[in-house]
Amino acid sequence: MKKAEHATIVIFGASGDLTKRKLIPALFQLAKDGLLTEKTTIVGFARREKSHEQFRVEIEDALVEFSRSKPEAGSGELKVFSSSCYYQTGNYDSSKSFHNLKELIDKLDEERGIDSAKANRLFYLSTPPSVFSGIVAMLGQSGHISDPNDRSRWTRAIVEKPFGRDLETACALNKGLSSVLDESQIYRIDHYLGKETVQNIMAFRFGNSIFEPLWNRRYVSHVHITVAEAVCVEGRGGYYDNSGALRDMVQNHMLQLLALIAMEPPASFAPDAVRDEKVKLLSAIPPIEMHEVNECSVRGQYAAGTINGKLIPDYLREGGVKPSSVTETFVALKLHVDNWRWAGVPFYLRTGKALTERLTEVNIEFRQPPLALFSHIKDDEAIEERGRMKPNMLSLRVQPNEGIRLSIGMKVPGPKMILEPKDMEFCYENVFDIEPPGAYERLILDAILGDSTLFIRQDEVEVAWTLVNGILEGWANEELPHIHLYRAGTWGPYAADEFIDNDIRKTGAL
Ligand code: BG6
Repeated sequence: MKKAEHATIVIFGASGDLTKRKLIPALFQLAKDGLLTEKTTIVGFARREKSHEQFRVEIEDALVEFSRSKPEAGSGELKVFSSSCYYQTGNYDSSKSFHNLKELIDKLDEERGIDSAKANRLFYLSTPPSVFSGIVAMLGQSGHISDPNDRSRWTRAIVEKPFGRDLETACALNKGLSSVLDESQIYRIDHYLGKETVQNIMAFRFGNSIFEPLWNRRYVSHVHITVAEAVCVEGRGGYYDNSGALRDMVQNHMLQLLALIAMEPPASFAPDAVRDEKVKLLSAIPPIEMHEVNECSVRGQYAAGTINGKLIPDYLREGGVKPSSVTETFVALKLHVDNWRWAGVPFYLRTGKALTERLTEVNIEFRQPPLALFSHIKDDEAIEERGRMKPNMLSLRVQPNEGIRLSIGMKVPGPKMILEPKDMEFCYENVFDIEPPGAYERLILDAILGDSTLFIRQDEVEVAWTLVNGILEGWANEELPHIHLYRAGTWGPYAADEFIDNDIRKTGAL
């Protein structure tokens, strides 16, 4: 990997969970792997009063608990890393706080022999979205932002999710950010794009020639995209109850997966070439209208159950969740891509919390062969059962046990022509003896390097919200919400399986 230029990295929301679980461990790993310069400094900014020393202790504790390289408490490498971390107490709406921040950063530059007029800044907005625009406005007012055309230094801002809660709020947010920052300085993060196996979707499709000719309506019958989680709301009930599965997972991570699976090959791997194709693809999906919401989607909410022997209470009993909440913890959707390549091929998306197991997978199901050559094998029941052809299926497993599986019909050895589906499988872990970088490592490094390929552009976020807006409105307007309960530890509501199976049968894809 390329080594980053020096930069001061300011994390807004430094007392939050994401900072401790993901951001600090990612920065530590990058430093450990020699990918950050020694002149890199990290400044945490949050409302809570704290000294640099207290912040460093918290950082070291977080690294012992969450870093993937598991450093020992009190070890030299922890001390070296934490000594480059500083803390600034402040309010997000106080210009004094932002001036204090500037003073601190300029002083740190001076100590490191960096000319402030040539200093790089990466601002990480890991706060609730309600303060994103305010922070950026304050940064602008207090002279933190450099000219995007200035080649001697750069300023970039990584913006965490949720990026708005509907189309209107997302557009307002974009407007707020772009009144201060140029689009080239804004890095909207979606951590799914930092996952190695998600990037491998592009490598698999565009770095090889065998599957691409089949990647269309002529050969593909339908596509399933599943993001199943075994976890519940994990102490984030307040946030989640205001969000739900559609906003939390579909609008961002799942539509990104869909875009990578279905987009046209980009002309190059340049950031805008890739993002243009994703936007084109997402724009070709007709948004589900309010009145179609029950024909195209099923939503569910988990009730008490057991996952891996652990008793899970009803969603409604989770802290921060309203007792009469109709927030969906599960959603299944059918989308179409109305373009030359995919017209008529349904894409089924399914995600939920408190399901049987954690599994993110894309399954591409191919059409049956035009002639059922082996259908004559019907002389006894067992054989009939085995002789029935299953369609070929290609599975791209994003997590866990990352890999690719191709299911093909094979002849069972013996005197009769009996076929059984068997898998050709490739498992990342067995093939590469390298531990892949975590998603945040990859994305933070890309932002420092100025590569925005794996970040979401303004038009992309807006088109993604356009797609889910009608569903949100349709659900909000239902007098009696159609929400199906499912037991925690199952694969979601029965109604979702029924909806997808019936649809596949109806469209003649089975
Ligand atoms: C986050 C959602 O964006 O992604 C969480 O807010 C979800 O609710 C998480 O659990 C899933 O990410 P991963 O990487 O564990 O699949």
